[in-house]
Amino acid sequence: TRDKMPPVPGDILVHASASKEGQPIKISELSEQLVRAWPMGKDKEGKNLIRKGDPNNVLAVFRFPQGQLVPPTNLEATISGEIVAYSDVCTHAGCSVSDDDQQEGQMKCPCHSGQYDPKRGCKVIGGPPPRPLAQLPIKQEGEQLVVAEFFLANPYPFTEAEWEARIE
Ligand code: FES
Repeated sequence: TRDKMPPVPGDILVHASASKEGQPIKISELSEQLVRAWPMGKDKEGKNLIRKGDPNNVLAVFRFPQGQLVPPTNLEATISGEIVAYSDVCTHAGCSVSDDDQQEGQMKCPCHSGQYDPKRGCKVIGGPPPRPLAQLPIKQEGEQLVVAEFFLANPYPFTEAEWEARIE
């Protein structure tokens, strides 16, 4: 069903936090603090549908000052080299990754202390995760963030062919 579909081009990123769930994320409210997001598309009747039927769809969005996002981040898949989105599902055992309380602008997994650097393509900088978090290409439409393409790497515990088969 469409709520289990992976994000597809044209989906809008909306807040995942309980207090703002479903509200479109605005560019102006982003900062170096992680904002957790879901992709939102349309159901068959054309109504808004948050794709939270698969917990692996959860995303992390950041805005860094110009010049701080560097490769291996794919800068073409960011908004103005400042705003970037990643899968928020730890590549070790699937926990939701948070801000690192000790190191501003970095991410830490609460389960086994995996660490990622979101300014450098979410590469692993500590702990057991085997791979970086997958980057999701996004673009700007007005004040909103919109999915531009599929993930640049497969963040799901199933093959790319299987997640493509989920797209209706
Ligand atoms: Fe994230 Fe183990 S699940 S470090």
